[in-house]
Amino acid sequence: MAHRFRPLDAVSHAVRPLTSLRPVGLALELAWWEWWLLRKGWQWPEEYRRRLDPERPLAPVHRDLLAHLGRERLRILDVGSGPLSEVGRRLPGKELEVVAVDPLGRAYTWLLRLSGLRPLVPVVPLSAEDLSRRFPPASFDLVQARNAIDHSRHPRRAIREMLRVVRPGCYVYLQHRVDEAESREHSALHQWNFRCEDGCLVLWGQKGRTDLTAVLAPLATVECRSDGQWVTAILRRHDDSPPTVTTGGASADQDSVSA
Ligand SMILES: C[S@@+](CC[C@H](N)C(=O)[O-])C[C@H]1O[C@@H](n2cnc3c(N)ncnc32)[C@H](O)[C@@H]1O
Repeated sequence: MAHRFRPLDAVSHAVRPLTSLRPVGLALELAWWEWWLLRKGWQWPEEYRRRLDPERPLAPVHRDLLAHLGRERLRILDVGSGPLSEVGRRLPGKELEVVAVDPLGRAYTWLLRLSGLRPLVPVVPLSAEDLSRRFPPASFDLVQARNAIDHSRHPRRAIREMLRVVRPGCYVYLQHRVDEAESREHSALHQWNFRCEDGCLVLWGQKGRTDLTAVLAPLATVECRSDGQWVTAILRRHDDSPPTVTTGGASADQDSVSA
C-alpha cells in the first residue's frame, strides 16, 4: 500500500537531527516542564501535588539505602531533579536535608516564580558532570538520579562525579528507562541508553558502549536489575575508595570509548 505524504511528519522528521543539538534539547526540556507546571501536572496531577507536599515521606527504596546509617541528620543529593525534586522530605527519627541540582536550575527557578510556586528544595544550576566543583568529596549519604543521566552529555563522567560526592560505604541510586535514546530515536537530550545485561549495568549510544559494572569496579559494587521498562542500579562506594576517583588513565571519563 502506498504511503500518504504527510507534510507535518515530513517536517518533524527533517528537524529531528536539529533537536539533538544540546541547546535545542535543553530548550525542549524546559518547554516540556513549563507545559507540565502550567497544566498542574497534566496527566499526572497526583505527582504534581506530591512534589509540592512538605510532608511527603521518603520513598522506601531511598529509606532502605540509608538504613545502615546511625546518624540522625542525613543529606541526600537529587541529580537532574527537574524543577520540583521528587525526593521525599520526611523519615521518622531523622532530619533530612535534600539538595537538588540540574543544569536548567536557573531557568526552572524562573519558571517556578512565573507559576507562583515555591519549591520545597531550590534547584542549584549544576550538571552532574560538575558536581565536585560545588561539593567536597564524600558530602552526601545518598545520591540519586532518576531519568536524568541518560540526558547528560558525559554519563560516565557524571556517574564518577556522583560516586565522588557520596560518602564511602554509601549508595548512588540510578533509575532510567531501558534504552531511552533508542526508543526516542536519539532526539533532544536523549543520546544515551542504559540497560542491564547479565546483571551488569551497560551504557551505550552512538559513541560507544561501556560495561559500567566492570569499569566502576575499583570504586564501587554495581547491582543492576530491570523490569523491562526501567533499569535500576545501586552503586555502593567502597569503604576504602580514594576521595578522587580515577581509573583507566586519561580516557577514563570519556563516553566515546568502549570499555
Ligand atoms: C526527564 S527530566 C527528569 C527529572 C527528574 N529527575 C524526574 O524524574 O522527574 C531530565 C532532567 O535531566 C536534566 N539533565 C540534563 N542534562 C543533565 C546533566 N548533565 N546533569 C544532570 N541533569 C541533567 C534535565 O535538565 C532534566 O531536568
